[in-house]
Amino acid sequence: MTSESGALLQIKNLKKHFHVGGGFLGGLGGQKTYLKAVDGIDLEIEPGTTYGLVGESGCGKSTTAKMVLMLEEPTDGEIYFEGQDALNMNREGRKNYKSSVQAVFQDPWASLNPRMRVENIIGEPLEINTTLSRKEIRTKVGDLLEEVGLQPYQAGLYPHEFSGGQRQRIGVARSLALNPKLIVLDEPVSALDVSIRAQIMNLLMDLQKEHGLTYLLIAHHLATVRYMCDKIGVMYLGHMVEEATTDELFDNPTHPYTQALIGAALPYHPDDEKEESILEGEVPSPIDPPSCCSYIPNCPETFAECNDNVVATKTVSPGHTVGHCAHCVDHYGCYWFPRVNPNIERNQ
Ligand SMILES: Nc1ncnc2c1ncn2[C@@H]1O[C@H](COP(=O)(O)OP(=O)(O)O)[C@@H](O)[C@H]1O
Ligand SMILES: [Mg+2]
Repeated sequence: MTSESGALLQIKNLKKHFHVGGGFLGGLGGQKTYLKAVDGIDLEIEPGTTYGLVGESGCGKSTTAKMVLMLEEPTDGEIYFEGQDALNMNREGRKNYKSSVQAVFQDPWASLNPRMRVENIIGEPLEINTTLSRKEIRTKVGDLLEEVGLQPYQAGLYPHEFSGGQRQRIGVARSLALNPKLIVLDEPVSALDVSIRAQIMNLLMDLQKEHGLTYLLIAHHLATVRYMCDKIGVMYLGHMVEEATTDELFDNPTHPYTQALIGAALPYHPDDEKEESILEGEVPSPIDPPSCCSYIPNCPETFAECNDNVVATKTVSPGHTVGHCAHCVDHYGCYWFPRVNPNIERNQ
């Protein structure tokens, strides 16, 4: 199967449900229990652009990343890369996909083997996937180090001999080794000092321009996605609740959850760096999500119709979509989001 879309990456109705208990000898009356980490998301990333996935911890961002990286097998759904069905590729296709889609993770300390010299960390993908000679690999590693702002002589050092920002540069160099088309950046600057974040973000944006790279950027930090992304998807409890271009999302956030995330992240004073966009209250468990359109923990005024748990997408303007339970789509103003504002006025 192929897709007609011009997107580099296209995801359709992607789901990952983890089996977390019950079933055979598992108790709970023998019923299998599933945690719906990702529960049917769609997105498209145009070549050469950056797509940001935001949402609080536990909403399914990394699980989405892992499915794109083929580190987790989806429960359902489709992934197309350059129009090709990535989940049903032959061996050769899979190998090409894995070279073309690389990753940079949050914690460069954890993702770099402390016992390997940098030349081996960066050279490993080249050794495994190419026929380059040792000498050629050494030259390429030196070039990659220079590209990320380090020096070729540093190839002989170990990860502990670098600062946090430099280690993330090594992670970026490794991700570039096989000339990928898409890089999945899972919280690439979250573990770094605020003072270093901008340097790494600028490096990533320079590399994007130079190599025509496409990024899927995952972050809970709104300033990061605002700075780097062309388009943003907001996730909540495994669902995509809103998607728009970056300017449109920040100018006209429409889902109450997005409004709350943006509101919570706005500093009181422009000089203040307000780090987290964490809302008050608990996100409901993805193991047993509330029946009413899943975003709603304790809706003060649920309607019988909401219990159908149907999520519909409403188009606010071209390219700007919002997901609501089908009933609430027609009843804007959303009485139902107590974590946003428990005293919210009805708006009918
Ligand atoms: N291997 C796993 N088995 C069971 N549950 C998992 C597994 N991986 C992630 N989860 C759960 O899936 C949900 C989404 O996790 P994750 O994708 O890591 O969220 P995020 O990256 O947005 O913080 C969380 O509730 C998490 O505990
Ligand atoms: Mg994560």
